[in-house]
Amino acid sequence: MTMLRSLVAVALCLGSTSAATLGAVSTEGGMVEGTNHRLGLFSSIDVFKGVPFAAPPGRFEKPKPHPGWEGVLKATKYQNRCLQVTLMQMGTHGSENCLYLNIWVPQGRTVSTGLPVMIYIFGGAFLLGASNDVSFMGNSLYDGEEVAKRGNVIVVTVNYRVGTLGFLSTGDARGPGNYGLWDQHAAIAWVHRNIRAFGGDRENITVFGQSAGSVGVSFQMLSPYNRGLFKRAISQCGVALSPWAMQRDPLALAQKVAERVGCPTGEEMMACLKITDPVVLTTAGKLALGDIGKGPVVYLLELSPVVDGDFIPDHPSKLFHNAADIDYIAGTNSMDGHLFAGMDIPSINQKRNPTYPEDIKMLLAGLTKDKGEVGVNSSFSMYTQSWVPEPDQETVKRTVVDIETDYLFLVPTQTALHLHSSNAK
Ligand SMILES: *[C@@H]1O[C@H](CO)[C@@H](O)[C@H](O)[C@H]1NC(C)=O
Ligand SMILES: *[C@@H]1O[C@H](CO)[C@@H](O)[C@H](O)[C@H]1NC(C)=O
Repeated sequence: MTMLRSLVAVALCLGSTSAATLGAVSTEGGMVEGTNHRLGLFSSIDVFKGVPFAAPPGRFEKPKPHPGWEGVLKATKYQNRCLQVTLMQMGTHGSENCLYLNIWVPQGRTVSTGLPVMIYIFGGAFLLGASNDVSFMGNSLYDGEEVAKRGNVIVVTVNYRVGTLGFLSTGDARGPGNYGLWDQHAAIAWVHRNIRAFGGDRENITVFGQSAGSVGVSFQMLSPYNRGLFKRAISQCGVALSPWAMQRDPLALAQKVAERVGCPTGEEMMACLKITDPVVLTTAGKLALGDIGKGPVVYLLELSPVVDGDFIPDHPSKLFHNAADIDYIAGTNSMDGHLFAGMDIPSINQKRNPTYPEDIKMLLAGLTKDKGEVGVNSSFSMYTQSWVPEPDQETVKRTVVDIETDYLFLVPTQTALHLHSSNAK
């Protein structure tokens, strides 16, 4: 009996001292309730999955506020990814109804308040990816738990439209484009308006992202629409100045998509695209892998943001004053260009096949196309300056990777940091 009583006492004690939890949270759209799971004796994590931050979007339209809901929304499972081609481009998955985010809140003995907030923007070449992307080992690639727990921060991962539905543009008012960027902005603004109810500090929001998500971070900093909404930003491998971050000729690309789906390319083009099956539209935006070898692979990444005169009012290099109040970290990896290098010059990954200086000249000719022969000659001599007369294969191959890394990632990032520091307050 005494034994039982002390067991009950211990159990009660554990009950009253275990970690706190938010329970149902009131947001602008209504109540949401997630799940709580215990991490340790006095720590747990509240997880809210699939919280809508905007209404299901109209096709080629900016996101609109969610009308709200009655009762308590169960935020216990991830919602749809935005409609996109599959990784192998054999089909599509996801839905147009995809504007959802997920929130992780670390808890201790008492309910957390005033926590810093980190909003993550996923990558995927503006073509694919999701806030809950699955890694090849089956775990959620962007599960926020680890960062939330270790950093004692709230982590938010957000969806945005990709591919044709996210970035098709006519380059004018008929179809301005940048829908995916507007989605990212809507998510950031939602977090700013609602995160206090989850224990977050809306004056301490950091936006971070990788690859195309990193470019997204950069555009969000440069857009005048985010002024005051976040304080810090981290770009992991990509900025708005990266050569793959912006469309070169949006109208030509929109017309190419229109032709593929059987729409006229003149005045009625946008009206026709708007009523075209979204799966057909999405498929029409896949990478033209058949064109590999016809020039640097980077030029196949066609669907991306544009200067729309609104969200992105001017060329990104002229917009750094909008980011003057933001603390910024940007970086790249030493071999970020390797994936592209291996597609442009496959021999760099083949033991039996040598890579020739001529291969490098051809690559440079493609990358410096707009600079003519002078571009090839001067960049080739620069990159081969340290070569001995008969360089070994390792050196030659490393040079190819350096060229791609510099062109696609490192130099644009250095330029962005330079522009940021010269504008920053
Ligand atoms: C935001 O939170 C971090 C981590 O707690 C802290 O170091 C920083 O000073 C905070 N910044 C602001 C503006 O409150
Ligand atoms: C580029 O290099 C080639 C071969 O060395 C040379 O024939 C050509 O004149 C050079 N062109 C320019 C514009 O420097």
